[in-house]
Amino acid sequence: MTKVIAFANQKGGTGKTTSAMNAAGALAEMGHDVLLIDIDPQASLTLGFGIALSKVERTLHEALMNPRELTLDDLIVQVREKIDLVPTNISLADAELDLVSARRREDRLRRLIEPVKEDYDFILLDCSPSLSLLVVNALSAADGVVIPMSTDYYSLAGVRLLLNSIDEIQYEVNPRLKIYGVLPTRYRANTNIAREALESVRQSLEGKVHVFKTLIRETVRLTEAPAQNKTITEYSPEHGSAEDYRQFARELLEQL
Ligand SMILES: Nc1ncnc2c1ncn2[C@@H]1O[C@H](COP(=O)(O)OP(=O)(O)O)[C@@H](O)[C@H]1O
Ligand SMILES: [Mg+2]
Repeated sequence: MTKVIAFANQKGGTGKTTSAMNAAGALAEMGHDVLLIDIDPQASLTLGFGIALSKVERTLHEALMNPRELTLDDLIVQVREKIDLVPTNISLADAELDLVSARRREDRLRRLIEPVKEDYDFILLDCSPSLSLLVVNALSAADGVVIPMSTDYYSLAGVRLLLNSIDEIQYEVNPRLKIYGVLPTRYRANTNIAREALESVRQSLEGKVHVFKTLIRETVRLTEAPAQNKTITEYSPEHGSAEDYRQFARELLEQL
């Protein structure tokens, strides 16, 4: 059964895009077929795979607004043997406003995904850093959500806020939505501050939300890889960061 997984956190810079891209790399390496959907108008994921934004002609924005004229199939680009991508560009920002007055506005992405769902083992949604209608669409389309959380003191409050929103979405639009877990990212190994922040997250979420045992460490390789249009498992397969994302992929599979 295909799993649709949203990478969400309304805070920016928590490793959503990095985690979606590299989880896709690790899952593909394990032999799974993956579709990535870039739902952030900033298009970091699209850029990370080296797709020029000016080349993105037909867009997710159009498909969301005119689903009878444009389907996801029309937008999908094959970027690797086992990875497809729905790219985006800044025009998606307009979708936010256009959706407000649209009918079934929370449901549009889910309905776009439905016809292609069975073509993949995993569909990963890279969300924008907001709690906007696009993110609501992602959470309404998803079977589960992964919350990448940068391991510092200020992140926990943000995660609490997100958990409240998820609770509302579960109640109002998607009762199937699971929380697969909080993924600690940008972990500065060997610093007390990171250890303490992690400990307080674990304590505060204990019994409520899974916190992945995998820690994604802070390394410069993870910023270099997308600049070379590569996943970390391609760019630096032997590096600890590639291992971090492989371990995350394995733990995610256990979690499903
Ligand atoms: N584990 C990490 N180590 C080092 N840099 C990271 C790590 N995770 C993310 N980054 C960098 O931090 C920035 C924000 O990450 P990104 O994944 O784009 O966050 P988001 O999508 O949540 O806004 C990017 O420049 C990215 O390369
Ligand atoms: Mg991002």
